[in-house]
Amino acid sequence: MIDLRSDTVAMPSPEMRQAMATAELGDDVFGDDPTVNRLLEVAAGRLGKEAAVFIPSGTMGNVLGVAVNAGRGEELIADAQSHVFIFETAGAAALAGVQIRPVSTESGVMTPEQIAASVRPRDDPHQPISAAITFEDTHNLHGGIVWPLEALRAASDAAHAHGMRVHLDGARIFNAAIAQEVGVAEIAACADTVTFCLSKGLACPAGSIFLGSREDVEQAHRWRKRLGGAMRQTGVLAAAGLIALDKMVDRLAEDHANARTLAEGLAELPGVRCDLSRVQTNLVFFELEKMTAPAFNDECAKRGVLGDWSGPARMRFVTHYGISTQDVQAALQVCEDVLSA
Ligand SMILES: Cc1ncc(COP(=O)(O)O)c(C=O)c1O
Repeated sequence: MIDLRSDTVAMPSPEMRQAMATAELGDDVFGDDPTVNRLLEVAAGRLGKEAAVFIPSGTMGNVLGVAVNAGRGEELIADAQSHVFIFETAGAAALAGVQIRPVSTESGVMTPEQIAASVRPRDDPHQPISAAITFEDTHNLHGGIVWPLEALRAASDAAHAHGMRVHLDGARIFNAAIAQEVGVAEIAACADTVTFCLSKGLACPAGSIFLGSREDVEQAHRWRKRLGGAMRQTGVLAAAGLIALDKMVDRLAEDHANARTLAEGLAELPGVRCDLSRVQTNLVFFELEKMTAPAFNDECAKRGVLGDWSGPARMRFVTHYGISTQDVQAALQVCEDVLSA
């Protein structure tokens, strides 16, 4: 099977498995796990944040980002296609009591003008307070696009000027950094709190990290406990995270190159529309003109290629650790066979 459903399916490397087996462990709820502590120190240093906490998932990272930055009855501004708005089972409302104000954008990149237009007037007691805003970089549903650093800085400055805190859903922040050849800390500097995933392109079996100031992370610790996400000998996972930050970041460029090859090949197939300008990282979205996405997906699966569909005619393929250039060529052949059958 060539599994292009998501980068979350990437398996840990042999080196990760070895490190997991031999990791020095302790109880992370007591702050005793030396491997977790080392990972948090490395991650905070890398992203230029004061403190960090290990959490089970990117979804929890976004719940923390909402809860730490906004209070009950307040509002969080988010892109209308953002993961936090679409795919997190209304966690902001259900868990943190925060309403999301969705803002429609062209590509997930919010302009200072759009931000200004979305902020509630502070002096109107009928309206909620716009306490925080969240940006997603790379932006999943908008095609894995990268926020140009200048645009992210401008949006962050605008949000701060309106008195809002900024949370960055950086589930794939390292893809964003590699794609535009900037340091990950430069991206993270645009936000007060950041979450990133170890279990996507970085190929760890599980885990994300939430970062911010010492006070933010203190609050996040309380929320992690409240949500049942405080785990014990988490060093078995953190050990893989340390290898990931050391060995799996630079290789994301291979995934991006494979995604590009895949997208260019797809764009040449009759009955496929693929906006190559949006293929900037490891996600490839494309539209089918002659068959439905579920039918196409089923036919590809029968021939050994797994993908995901996100609309009646919209497909997504994702490249990751474990997908080779040859796999990409084989997948393209399968797509061609399915479309010409
Ligand atoms: C942009 C983005 N944010 C957050 C998440 C949530 O991550 P997790 O699946 O670890 O909860 C995802 C998952 O795909 C994502 O794509």
